[in-house]
Parts: sequence; structure tokens; C-alpha cells
Amino acid sequence: MKGILLAGGSGTRLHPMTLAASKQLLPVYDKPMVYYPLSTLMLAGIRDIMIISTPEDLPQFRRLLGDGSRFGVRFAYAAQPSPDGIAQAFLIGRDWIAGEACALALGDNLIHGDHLSALLRNAASGQAGATVFAYQVRDPERYGVVSFDLDGNASEIVEKPATPTSNWAVTGLYFYDRQVTDIAARIRPSARGELEITDLNKVYLESGLLRVERLSRGYAWLDAGTPDSLLQAATFVQTIQSRTGMLVGCPEEVAFRMGFITADDLREQARHLGKTELGRVLLGLADGVFG
Ligand code: TTP
Repeated sequence: MKGILLAGGSGTRLHPMTLAASKQLLPVYDKPMVYYPLSTLMLAGIRDIMIISTPEDLPQFRRLLGDGSRFGVRFAYAAQPSPDGIAQAFLIGRDWIAGEACALALGDNLIHGDHLSALLRNAASGQAGATVFAYQVRDPERYGVVSFDLDGNASEIVEKPATPTSNWAVTGLYFYDRQVTDIAARIRPSARGELEITDLNKVYLESGLLRVERLSRGYAWLDAGTPDSLLQAATFVQTIQSRTGMLVGCPEEVAFRMGFITADDLREQARHLGKTELGRVLLGLADGVFG
């Protein structure tokens, strides 16, 4: 399975911070925002990852992430000339996806929780159809909202409903089978002029091929698209890391735990991080001192 990391958009809710900088490169505590969804894709076992951003910001992503070898993965890069919708990622990536199954992670989303890797690997295991994740939020009207029937099956998804019929929001992490590029090609722009990911999900739902995994309260799903949520995400990462000494959303750690890189590779990466706490924790991991 391949994976797309979508890190374009206009970031208007973070102006003026995003007037001259990409939202997904802003810091979330001690790492660039994009590291969190990148770690999620890698935890799913995905090693071929396309990074999509604006033509202006793409060079900075290349500078930060390179070819992926230091994380034991392969990065491809592509530009989205204008923010015409999340589902457009599959049109931009069509040739690169080359008829394979493909996941999509939004560049400003952070998911953290116990057994996440098993959940993700199951979603990436190549079953027909699509898997998305739903999470209970206080403000569902900001998201795609999914309702369930009495048997607990997803019955309806509505994008940003004025009066939500449930508080289950669809998170920014999606796993699709090999049909995804063909289905995306058939979607038409919505009233707001975007190729909506909700419309793509609806096609799978209507064919009975959409699995919606409900993330329990043991998980954290955060996005970092507003000043408040950016600060909350940073505080969350800082709280967990300083309390446990374990890292949240660190691709070097994930690469090592997934067997994508060796302990020597990890040591080398830790050295590049110099005297940072991050570097110290990674060195400990490589030396088998921690977890
Ligand atoms: P949003 O947060 O909906 O949009 P945005 O990032 O442009 O921000 P704002 O609403 O403040 O203007 O986008 C969710 C994620 O998807 C985010 O990581 C940006 C990304 N995205 C794209 O890369 N291309 C797009 O066309 C859209 C709509 C979003």
C-alpha cells in the first residue's frame, strides 16, 4: 500500500503565521507538524509516501524530509497548484499510485493511542473497500460527520452539517483500495468548489464498502489548524513526553520500531539532533536503555 501526506491548503485560520510559512511545517512542541501524520503512515507499515504541498512550500518539505532514506522510506513529491480539495490528492498522485491501494493522511492531524499500530496495520492489510476512523468531538459541525444505524454500521456521512446528527467526526486518515483513483476521477466539485473527501467516502459507503472504525476515548485525535488547537496539540505532546519519557509522533523512532532502520542508523539520526532532548531519547532507544 502507498500513502499520501497532504500538506497544502491555505491555512487561513492560522494567519498571519501561515502568510509566509507552511502550516504543516509549524512546530507542534518539538517537531514539525508534518512529522505526526508521517509517523502515523509509517506505523501502518507504509514505506512509499507522496508528499503533496503548494508549489511555494514544496521545496521546504524536500529540505526537511529529503528522499526518506533516513527514515527507511521513499518519498515522492508533487505540487497542488491550488487548494481544490482533499480528494484531489488522488488525481495528483494518480500515476504514482499506479493502481495500488493508497492511504491518505492530512498534514495537520495527530492521532495517538494504545494499539494504534495494530489498528492501522489492519486498515492497511489490503481488504477491498475503504477504512476511515471516527472520533467523538464537541464541535462536529467543523468536520465530516458520520451517523450509525442501530446495528452500529455507518449509515450516512455529511460534510460540515449545520445541525449534526451525531458527534462522530471523520478523522484525517483514510485507507482506500485500488479503486480509489478511478472513483476520485468521477467526483465533481462541491458547492464550495472542492473535490470533497466526504464525497469519495460516500461512494464507498453507498457500495457497502466503507468500514468506519470508532476510536474510543483512549485515543487522542487532534488537528492543529487554529491557534487554539495548535497550542493544545503542542501541550498534549509536551505533557505525554515529559511525563513518560516516550515520544509522540517521532518518525525516527517509528522507523526503528518498525524495522525500517537499524540501531546504528538510529544512533546516526540521534547524533544529527545534537543536544536536543529528542536526540537524547533516540540515543537511549538505540542503546536499548528505554522501552
Ligand atoms: P483545512 O484545514 O480544511 O484547510 P486549510 O489547511 O487550507 O486551512 P484553513 O481552513 O485555515 O484555510 O485542510 C485540512 C488539511 O488538508 C490541511 O492539512 C491542508 C490540507 N489540504 C490540502 O493540502 N489541499 C486542499 O485542497 C485542502 C482543501 C486541504
